[in-house]
Amino acid sequence: MTDTRNIPALINKAETTHDLTKAEIVTLLTDTHYQAELFAAADRVRQKYVGDEVHLRGLIEFSNICKQNCLYCGLRRDNKQVRRYRLEPDVIIDFAVKAQSYGYRTVVLQSGEDECFDVDKMVYIIKKIKDLDMAITLSVGEKSREVYRQYREAGADRYLLRIETTDKELYERLDPGMSWDNRVRCLNDLKELGYELGTGCMVGIPGQTIESLADDVLFFKKIDADMIGIGPFIPNPDTPLAGESGGTFELSTKVMAMTRLLLPDINIPATTAMESLNPQGRVLALQRGANVVMPNVTEGEYRQMYLLYPGKICINDTPAHCRSCITGKIQSIGRRVSETHGYRARRAQQS
Ligand code: 5AD
Ligand code: SF4
Ligand code: FES
Repeated sequence: MTDTRNIPALINKAETTHDLTKAEIVTLLTDTHYQAELFAAADRVRQKYVGDEVHLRGLIEFSNICKQNCLYCGLRRDNKQVRRYRLEPDVIIDFAVKAQSYGYRTVVLQSGEDECFDVDKMVYIIKKIKDLDMAITLSVGEKSREVYRQYREAGADRYLLRIETTDKELYERLDPGMSWDNRVRCLNDLKELGYELGTGCMVGIPGQTIESLADDVLFFKKIDADMIGIGPFIPNPDTPLAGESGGTFELSTKVMAMTRLLLPDINIPATTAMESLNPQGRVLALQRGANVVMPNVTEGEYRQMYLLYPGKICINDTPAHCRSCITGKIQSIGRRVSETHGYRARRAQQS
């Protein structure tokens, strides 16, 4: 049992100083008596630092082909149950044009680690989309610094690469053949090249501890991330982790709320995986520290084929439907959809 007497004081410390020790973070993540107070504090910090606007990012899942073999992921190369696809560059650009017509100011280009998309192809796609005056977020995995440099020079603004877990040993067990140090090298290169840096973690992966989740939050702070995406691990029946138990919605949102308290002015999405576990997941996340949503703008049958985990939402919906659905949800809680590009609004951190 944790001693709950000091919990309100700790929440207050987090809200006013944005600074906690690892032991304090562990105490707050372990506590179950004052969760509502923790969420309310994260919501106030969100309101104070990034306001009531919610930034929408249109997500294009342009290839589900991946050379990696992460044990948790449905797109891993050994999963033969997946019908694989890759979109032609001009189809991707067309999806971006459509996303813009729905009012999105940012597209997120996401794929598995698909070698077919070499620098020439990516630079072509990035330049064409930049001509639309949209912000571009890339989420295409580990590359060399030189490749990141060329994407950046072509106009990419942001990059998402989750650290997944800061427990190096656990990471290398779950992502066979990958190196945790190289992942950190990627994040440092991206930061130095001037990208807005997005990273994040999964909550509830087998072997993960509360201490390790506290390290994750401290890592986000240390690397000065601009965006943090956090979602529950959801076991996929077509992967080696099929029989494991997944992460919970509550703990995922607690880690997210903690991230808002310690990194008050960053962008934090209400993630798809959260809504896959709880039908109100994104709206609740927006009330527990999040200020971004990434609706899917991939068209047609491809959505069903980009199955990282089972129960993924919106796989039978159209971009137009998702756009009006999410706007309704945002407005239902008294928030509004931003019309800006939604870059990180750095604020001086005062109490
Ligand atoms: N459950 C939840 N999230 C997953 N991801 C991959 N597989 C799963 C899963 N089974 C997440 C990883 C990856 C992101 C694109 O999706 O964190 O970085
Ligand atoms: Fe590939 Fe990313 Fe899935 Fe790993 S998590 S198998 S790198 S798509
Ligand atoms: Fe896709 Fe609601 S956002 S159906």
